[in-house]
Amino acid sequence: MVRTEQNWENSFHFFWRFIHNPLKIGALRPSSAQLCRATVKAIEPEKCRCVVELGPGTGVITQYLLNSIDPQSRFLAVEIDPVFHENLQKRFPGTAIHRGDAEDLGKWLQPQKSGLADAVVSGLPWTLFTESQCRSILAEIASCMQPDGIFVTLCYWHAQWLPSGLRLKKLLKDYFDAVEMTDTVWTNVPPIFLFRCSGRRLTPKKEKR
Ligand SMILES: C[S@@+](CC[C@H](N)C(=O)[O-])C[C@H]1O[C@@H](n2cnc3c(N)ncnc32)[C@H](O)[C@@H]1O
Repeated sequence: MVRTEQNWENSFHFFWRFIHNPLKIGALRPSSAQLCRATVKAIEPEKCRCVVELGPGTGVITQYLLNSIDPQSRFLAVEIDPVFHENLQKRFPGTAIHRGDAEDLGKWLQPQKSGLADAVVSGLPWTLFTESQCRSILAEIASCMQPDGIFVTLCYWHAQWLPSGLRLKKLLKDYFDAVEMTDTVWTNVPPIFLFRCSGRRLTPKKEKR
């Protein structure tokens, strides 16, 4: 049974952080329960021995992930916002939640010592990043993943036709052999879908020169 904490306090807290730092948070409210379920389904949690979450925010997806993976599996999250980070540590005591930039994922995951991730889930606001930031983060993710690992990232439905959404899709195709779009979660505000990527490339298809 999946237990979640999608309540007004959570939503208010999220909005409050957005007001403080809109260029880092990138959304007005946390993901809906339907989106959390779609995200968990996309990574096939029962097969995962190591799951990473980037940009957990208030922890709505985190809760679903922790409830879905085997308790023996490794879970690690990276959150850049100090207040979200502090609250996540209180909400999920004993869980590896690091404060910092997704670009430094390997520093915490230590794949050479502790193994690569089977799944990486991202709530990162790609549209707010420069192309070079996107590339650094995607290269880091690819280098931290098993060859048959799955990468899942959120994209607003309307953004798929905007330059930022088109750029994200193109970049994902540089770092992954297969990039699928899931069904749209219409009940999310705003509607959203996931890019589900597999076949990570350690050398991207092309670098912008
Ligand atoms: C759109 S919110 C998503 C929050 C949550 N995953 C959800 O679905 O409700 C983006 C989150 O990414 C975090 N973030 C932004 N840039 C980041 C970075 N470079 N590294 C790690 N986290 C980052 C923000 O602080 C925020 O918590």
